Amino acid sequence: MRVDDITEAIGETPLLRIDPAVHGLRNIDLYAKLELLNPFGSLKDRAAWSMVRPLLAGAAERGDTVVELSSGNTAKALALIAGMHGLPFKSVTNRMRIPEIKDLLLLLGAEIDELPGRSECLDPSDTDDPLTRMYQVLNESTAGFVHTDQYFNELNAEAHLNGTGPEIIKDLDGTAPDYFIACVGTAGSSTGVARALRRYNPDTRVIGLVAAKSDFIPGIRTIDEVHEVGLFEPGVYDAIETITADEAIDGLLTLVRRCGTLAGPTGGGAYQGAVSFLRTQDAVLKSRKTAVFIVCDRVEPYVSYLRERRPALFGRPPRPHSVSSLSPAELAAAPAVSVAAAPDFARRALVVDLRNPYAYQALHIDGSINIVDEVFAELLQAGLPFSRRQPVLLVCPVGEKSAAYAALLTRMGHPDVRSLDGGIIAWRDAGGELVRD
Ligand SMILES: Cc1ncc(COP(=O)(O)O)c(C=O)c1O
Repeated sequence: MRVDDITEAIGETPLLRIDPAVHGLRNIDLYAKLELLNPFGSLKDRAAWSMVRPLLAGAAERGDTVVELSSGNTAKALALIAGMHGLPFKSVTNRMRIPEIKDLLLLLGAEIDELPGRSECLDPSDTDDPLTRMYQVLNESTAGFVHTDQYFNELNAEAHLNGTGPEIIKDLDGTAPDYFIACVGTAGSSTGVARALRRYNPDTRVIGLVAAKSDFIPGIRTIDEVHEVGLFEPGVYDAIETITADEAIDGLLTLVRRCGTLAGPTGGGAYQGAVSFLRTQDAVLKSRKTAVFIVCDRVEPYVSYLRERRPALFGRPPRPHSVSSLSPAELAAAPAVSVAAAPDFARRALVVDLRNPYAYQALHIDGSINIVDEVFAELLQAGLPFSRRQPVLLVCPVGEKSAAYAALLTRMGHPDVRSLDGGIIAWRDAGGELVRD
């Protein structure tokens, strides 16, 4: 295939039939749409090109900068396309949690504006999130910027309506699959493909996958972030299922070790989510069915993500003091203190606020110290980060993270650690005193 411009190589990705000996489904043919084979490495190549192409005319002459709220694949594709057109690219994002992707973006010449929020996905109604504030600023005036606006730009979904979806139908000899399973980030790919498939087969069932509560699968929403925002329309999905990071990694291992497919975590999650869902259907099917899932991107940038969660895969000792090792019983028994009793306890305790620095600076319990939860998780690997004699009160937004760490510290032998029940929100709602830096 000869091309004059690398963007001509976007799309027309293969549809790989997964060996039934691997997935074990008896009545369903399962196919993977290999979006990782796009030239910049992900399904976002399509959306990025579709969104930025109409905005390029005159941008270099005006000295505009391409800007997008993305910490991953959209940013990567836009950085490359911007470079080809002599434009700078700026990625605005909450903390970049995948170091390899950050380094890669810097290598591509991107400027990175890293904000201290937590969300993976823009929620314009969450005005506490710095990402939302940045989005509002961009919406007020785009002078000097080419803003591709992936969360709201219909051209994101259209790239899949006109490309990914019809390609699947063509490769299935003019039929739409009975099931389509996809991870949901901006929702552009699942929405666009679903629309294309349902034009051919209104009965195609669409399963959206999101990360389980408080879990992190890079590139997609958590179940807490499933709001009606931007391109996300609940009516597109027959079901929204959750997948855990652990399941995503299991799926990734199957794809890389048994299917010759260098899938990243969301590809693994889509495979695992598809097989779990389809197993419930398989047993009762009367006729043969077809299912398609998307392998969104490649595994290479996620090596540190995988090493942290599965050290044994890399010949490293396990990390015994991790939240993911807690049993449901340990979590249920996490020591907590109610907001009513917390002020008394806080007077003699070290108060550790696990929230992001931005939220902490805005409002916190007087005298508390701020250790962001990921840093706190690291500190625990070396042992207790304070004396056993020191009572400790852990604080987070709603009391979930703090409860997990309280359970973990209890297991590690700390005799007097508590989680603030309901978190800083319950404290605030009860009229508890908060100070600002
Ligand atoms: C790795 C990965 N998987 C899945 C998705 C979800 O795609 P969409 O934004 O179209 O919902 C993304 C989005 O950025 C992603 O980066």
